[in-house]
Amino acid sequence: MEVYMNNKRFQTLGEFIIENQADFQYSTGELSRLINSIRLAAKTVNHEVNKAGLVDILGAAGSTNKHGEKQQKLDVFANEIFIQTLTNREIVCGIGSEENEDIIEVSGADNSNLNKYVVLMDPLDGSSNIDVNVSVGTIFSIYRRITPVGTPVQMEDFLQPGKNQVAAGYIIYGTSTMLVYTVGKGVNGFTLNPAIGTFYLSHPNMTTPPNGKIYSINEGNYVHFPQGVKDFIKYCQEEKDDRPYTSRYIGSLVSDVHRNLLKGGIYIYPSTAKSPNGKLRLLYECNPMAMIVEQANGRASTGLQRILDVKPNQLHQRVPFFCGNSSMVEKAEEFMSRYKE
Ligand code: AHG
Ligand code: MN
Ligand code: MN
Repeated sequence: MEVYMNNKRFQTLGEFIIENQADFQYSTGELSRLINSIRLAAKTVNHEVNKAGLVDILGAAGSTNKHGEKQQKLDVFANEIFIQTLTNREIVCGIGSEENEDIIEVSGADNSNLNKYVVLMDPLDGSSNIDVNVSVGTIFSIYRRITPVGTPVQMEDFLQPGKNQVAAGYIIYGTSTMLVYTVGKGVNGFTLNPAIGTFYLSHPNMTTPPNGKIYSINEGNYVHFPQGVKDFIKYCQEEKDDRPYTSRYIGSLVSDVHRNLLKGGIYIYPSTAKSPNGKLRLLYECNPMAMIVEQANGRASTGLQRILDVKPNQLHQRVPFFCGNSSMVEKAEEFMSRYKE
């Protein structure tokens, strides 16, 4: 089935991938196949998320992940689907996941490893929202390995700064399901037509507005925030110029960032007295979101340093996260820098 709007035919994700393959500097088709397999896994997870209230998939799985967090059944399911899809097709040499303590080495049928990409992912983001029918997501980040092809993948292949990412994206399982990704040439968004299981290019060349009016932060933690963040919140609430701004917080990073990307706004998960490095994970939450936001003309930082420049030292490392349209993030950084010791 072809989809038209105002007499314009929407391009499918499959067509878009083929047409834009040359955009990618080292393209041999491998990255295209990788994005294709993410598309397939996304459709499977979407199918499961959509019937979550009807089948026995809601609630806790009875296990905890590396971070001591209770795993939800859908966390485990999404993790398995993405790992299976990526390993079956033998197009990555390794996977790092929020749900797995260690890296997963992927080798081909003959035990060789001919692939050059590693994937890092948060298979199900916003899991505490599953049981209450609020949007959740998947986040992925793709790097070229550093160690030679044909040898076992190493931790150093994963611990690369975000600026080395060759592609990044997210899937939002929301009122409609979208796949948004970048290969470093702008950001494009595709909406799933669930009737036929095809993603269509609905949001070409996504850019975030230069100015925003939304701030997104879990204000329940206010007393534990650094003084720079407290001052920035007060600035957002002040009656002056185009302020006060409006506060919106879903508690699913993907959904909060997606909304702010489209409407203009800032998302903050700062360090707190309880968790000095914040809550979000650098490698599979902050880096991919930072690449997308920068590619959409926005900005992402730790409050003091560009996220994509941070040199990781651990797979599950956490980092404070500020991201959104440039003017709001710069303003928050200005407040943060006043208290830099
Ligand atoms: P995950 O479900 O993958 O563990 O991620 C949850 C994250 C993120 O999606 C969200 O922005 C943040 O946790 C919300 O944390 P608080 O409940 O502390 O606000
Ligand atoms: Mn998450
Ligand atoms: Mn998760």
